[in-house]
Amino acid sequence: MLKPHLEQARKRTRSLVKIEDFKMRDELKTLGIGKTYFVKTYGCQMNVHDSENIKAILEMMGFRENEDMMSADLILLNTCAIRENAHNKVFGMIGRIKHLKEERPNVIAGICGCMAQEEVVVNEILDKFSFLNFIFGTHNIHEFPEILAEAMHKNSTEVKVYSFEGNIIEKMPAKRDNKYKAFVNIMYGCDKFCTYCIVPYTRGKQRSRRFEDIIEEVKSLKENGYKEVTLLGQNVNAYGKDLNLEFDMSDLLESVAKTGIERIRFVTSHPWDFTDKMIDVIGKYPNIMPYIHLPLQSGSDRILKLMGRRYTKESYLELFNKIKKTIPNVSITTDIIVGFPGESEEDFLSTLDVVNKCKYDSAFTFIFSPREGTPAAKMKDDTPLEVKEKRLYELNDLVNKYALEANKKYLNKTVKVLLDEVSDKEGCLAGYTESMKLVNVKAPKEMLGQIVDVKIVDVRTWSMNGEIA
Ligand code: SAH
Ligand code: SF4
Ligand code: F3S
Repeated sequence: MLKPHLEQARKRTRSLVKIEDFKMRDELKTLGIGKTYFVKTYGCQMNVHDSENIKAILEMMGFRENEDMMSADLILLNTCAIRENAHNKVFGMIGRIKHLKEERPNVIAGICGCMAQEEVVVNEILDKFSFLNFIFGTHNIHEFPEILAEAMHKNSTEVKVYSFEGNIIEKMPAKRDNKYKAFVNIMYGCDKFCTYCIVPYTRGKQRSRRFEDIIEEVKSLKENGYKEVTLLGQNVNAYGKDLNLEFDMSDLLESVAKTGIERIRFVTSHPWDFTDKMIDVIGKYPNIMPYIHLPLQSGSDRILKLMGRRYTKESYLELFNKIKKTIPNVSITTDIIVGFPGESEEDFLSTLDVVNKCKYDSAFTFIFSPREGTPAAKMKDDTPLEVKEKRLYELNDLVNKYALEANKKYLNKTVKVLLDEVSDKEGCLAGYTESMKLVNVKAPKEMLGQIVDVKIVDVRTWSMNGEIA
């Protein structure tokens, strides 16, 4: 048993990261024949992409996907630890698995992902939910076949979670649901340690992938018909900083653009590392999409300092305006936390002020959730929950107003949409504009995967309707 350890997860050394290729022993390649798996994914795109790797690994072992948890032979929850409610959802699901295992004791079930990296979670599972067969962490996905083989032969929970900084595993297979757009990791982990955030503990130190490995992956996706890649990292702008080489995110973006893939996106951009050179490169290449997610978190300098974000309201606005000025028709979205410990009415008004100035295309808003082991969890927090909720509603009203306003600018305009899936709306396909607006378009299924000109005929707060132009 190897349990996670919070103190260890906090440490950062200067030691070089090891790069290994994914391998699987031949004996394991028959373990899942005749069996099905069900994977449920919580959290961010990083987790979605990890699940794509996990599914492909399971299929290499002979398992087949089953969309119905109730009849699957193997159940895996790929979890998120970012806020308390993510936790609660997973524990609710574990309760359902308990009932299922009472009826079908041979079902194998376990968890992975960011919650598996938390000491408290693993202890709670071993204490109260020991019917789970395995737990593995974010740094040992490549070892899942071995862990599973071990778990299938024993009666206790197999636990293997590393709290060291993590290696980079290349040549991992991926089962991508979408045939036209793909996630590509460019870096793992995060060294920013914003005081509220658990990610630097659950994902380890920042490790950038090699430049050539990323370019190779993009080229091969392009050859296989993919139209769009999203470069993934907790902090993509800091790409390469850990490698001490001559290139940075702007060079990477430029090289990815030169592969000729039709659309390039990237998430997430921390305002701290956003260079002028990056802005210029994004503006220069038409295949780098004019869409930037630029988390604000708070508009109050006092709170930003307590959060450890290392920018001010003024420097954020300066960056925001530079991006708007340099990149034509750019859309910008953000993340905001209300109710950080000690947030006063005045601090909150500063946040509203930034929203009024930036008029975001959209925003994800959250109430602060204390995460065990992070500095903010220990800060004095005397704002009542009702006040925090009231602030969240007020903020959401403002955000929605500007989201609708931003969408209205598209009415009767013609835009390019990559039709990438069948819409919930009858007879429609759905896809995104270059600026990341969701559009439902009346079109036949044969048009899936095409980038087409669409005339916007109706706009809502969260989506638009269009017709092929
Ligand atoms: N790496 C990304 C953030 C990933 S987490 C970045 O730096 O932008 C996504 C969002 O969750 C964060 O931007 C933040 O707004 C929110 N978040 C993170 N920790 C939180 C916490 N403890 N409570 C509430 N919201 C949180
Ligand atoms: Fe969390 Fe901050 Fe890192 Fe984003 S930059 S993952 S908010 S610590
Ligand atoms: Fe959640 Fe881990 Fe992503 S905590 S947001 S799944 S990095």
